[in-house]
Formats: sequence, structure tokens, C-alpha cells
Amino acid sequence: MSSETAQILVTGGAGYIGSHTCVALIQAGFTPVIVDNFSNSHPLAIARIEAITGIRPQLHECDIADEDAMRQVLRNHEFAAAIHFAGVKAVGRSVSEPLETYRQNVTGSLSLLQSLNEGGITRLIFSSSATVYGGAEQMPISETARVQPTNPYGHSKAMVEQILHDLAAAEPDWGIGVLRYFNPVGAHKSGEIGEDPQGIPDNLFPYVSQVAIGRREKLQVFGNDYNTPDGTGVRDYIHVMDLAEGHVAALQACLQSQGLFAVNLGTGQGSSVLEIIKAFEQTSGQSIPFEIIARRPGDVGTSFADPSKAKELLGFEAQRDLTQMCQDSWNWQQRNPTGYSNH
Ligand SMILES: NC(=O)c1ccc[n+]([C@@H]2O[C@H](COP(=O)([O-])OP(=O)(O)OC[C@H]3O[C@@H](n4cnc5c(N)ncnc54)[C@H](O)[C@@H]3O)[C@@H](O)[C@H]2O)c1
Repeated sequence: MSSETAQILVTGGAGYIGSHTCVALIQAGFTPVIVDNFSNSHPLAIARIEAITGIRPQLHECDIADEDAMRQVLRNHEFAAAIHFAGVKAVGRSVSEPLETYRQNVTGSLSLLQSLNEGGITRLIFSSSATVYGGAEQMPISETARVQPTNPYGHSKAMVEQILHDLAAAEPDWGIGVLRYFNPVGAHKSGEIGEDPQGIPDNLFPYVSQVAIGRREKLQVFGNDYNTPDGTGVRDYIHVMDLAEGHVAALQACLQSQGLFAVNLGTGQGSSVLEIIKAFEQTSGQSIPFEIIARRPGDVGTSFADPSKAKELLGFEAQRDLTQMCQDSWNWQQRNPTGYSNH
């Protein structure tokens, strides 16, 4: 089978990053097949992928930890590889409910790996996170920086990375790409798919855009006493479509290779919270009221990537700038003021 038509299992493919990656996969000629239990997403995302690409990905609604159901899925397809997004991502909740985070992210991933191994699928891309670096001292952060997470969510990602290292060492047939995302933001330019957090957003971009549209009164900025140019936290924001295209590049590399590689996906540019507010105000023409409150426990002052390994190894470099990120977030927010619900 040529890689152009290869079927790719996408766990969590209805979610924020997964849905954008399905679009990028289809546009690169792959055939994504989604497994999702809709615990943090909406079935409408599938129809929206079709609206953008003209192709409706096949969907299996099930849990990755349900090994019988997964066996059935694997029997029905000839997968060339899997991209594994399914999991929970709320840092705060991982602190208050660590067992649930480890069950979802570690046990869930182990079950999936077991199913893939049994099914003879030995190519995998895994969603890791810059959170594994914890409070890295050196900026920009390269992949050789120490893995030292500071919360259960980060530990759950680091644990799965370790499992994958051990698997790649024990089973030379496996080819694994570990992608450490910095801060994914924005939406597909069509405004058909985007980030749709349940409840109060944990992340800055959806919070800012919900304030701009009038869904929330004001933004809370966690601390302005960090050692940064304006005192607010600095992060490396990467457009979700760049991230999606990074997955396609990593998949292509992984299909050709064995062993494990771990790469950062970021832009290498840091932006402060106040810079994001300003950029979003300019794009939307709305004012974003905010108040400064205390630092959020576990947050670090500055985090941005050294993106050079992704360029060397995968030929991948993020293309979209902060203005594009704000424009696409705002377009999604305006077209879907309450996300996927009420459609
Ligand atoms: N968004 C970020 O800021 C960010 C940053 C770094 C890493 N990540 C990681 O990237 C991945 C995707 O993140 P996202 O932002 O798209 O999250 P998301 O919640 O939008 O997507 C996750 C998807 O997985 C599904 N899912 C969850 N548990 C499942 C299970 N047991 N079985 C089947 N489906 C299940 C959810 O319904 C959802 O559709 C996650 O692993 C996350 O930890 C996200």
C-alpha cells in the first residue's frame, strides 16, 4: 500500500488537535480512521472535517481502553500507523484527581499499545507535551533538556514516553515519534473546526476569545511578577494547523524508520499574556478587560521551544504567525459562539 492512501488510526480524532490533524492527513492523501469516545468532543467535528475536505473519516465510537472493541476496529482495517491523541489534558484536574489522570493517560495508552502490538501495528505518533520539561532553566528548551514534570499530567506524559522508549528498545520493529507540543492555539481558517473547551477554559486563547465575544466578563491574568519583560507569563504559541502539519511530517518520517525520536513542536517565539491580549484586541476590534490575580500554582514564568530538531529531522517549520493565530481563533469564535453545541 502506498503511504498516499494508507489508513491511519487516529485516537481522539474528534478532539481539538485530532480534528485539525485529520484535515491535514486527508490533504496529504492519507485516510484517517477515528476512534473517539466523545468524552471531550462533539460528533459534529466529524461532519466539519468533511465540510472542509469533502471526505468523511470513518468513526468508531469507543474507548481506547476497551480492548475487545479495539481488537474489532483493528480487524476491520489495515492500518499503516496510529496517531494517539486520546487522553485528558487538564493540569489542574490532574492535581486534584491524579488517579483518574493516570488511568486515562497511562493505563489507556498501555491498553492501546497492547492492542496495536497484537494487531501488528508498529508505527506510532504520540501526543506528548512541553509540560514534561517542568520549570526548565535554559531557554529555548531543546529536546535534551531534563524531563522533570511538576504535576501529574506532565508525569503521565513522561511515563508514557518512558514506556515507548522501553518498547522501542525491546521491539526493533517499532517506529515511534514522540511530539512535545508547546501551546497549540487557533483554528482551521474556515472556522469549521476549533477549540471547544467545556466549562471555564484552562488555556489563554479560548478564554480571551470568550471574553471578546461577551461570553465571559473579564480575563484573569495569573501573576505579573514573573521575570519576563512585562511580568506576565511567556509561552510559545503554535497554530494548530502548523501542529497538524507537523504530525504529517512526523508520520512520514516514522513510516520510513525504526526506533524512537522525540521532537518539540513550537515556533521558538515567546509571547507574554499582555502581548496576546493586545494582539487579540487588534484582530477582533473588541476590548479585552482583564484583572491581574495571584500566580497559578505550578505555572512557570517562561517556556519556549528550540524548534531546530523538528526542522532537521522532519523538515518541519511552523509557518503561521501570531496575527494568523488570533484571526483564526476569532473567526472560529464568531462563527461558533457556543462552540459545537446548539448547532
Ligand atoms: N491542547 C493542548 O494544549 C495540548 C498541549 C500538549 C499536549 N496535548 C495533548 O494532545 C492530545 C490532544 O489534545 P487536545 O487538545 O486535542 O484534547 P481534546 O480533549 O480536544 O481531544 C482529546 C480527544 O480524545 C477523546 N478521548 C479522551 N479519552 C478517550 C478514550 N479513553 N477513548 C477514546 N477517546 C478518548 C476525547 O473525546 C477528545 O475527542 C492530548 O493527549 C493532550 O494531552 C494537548
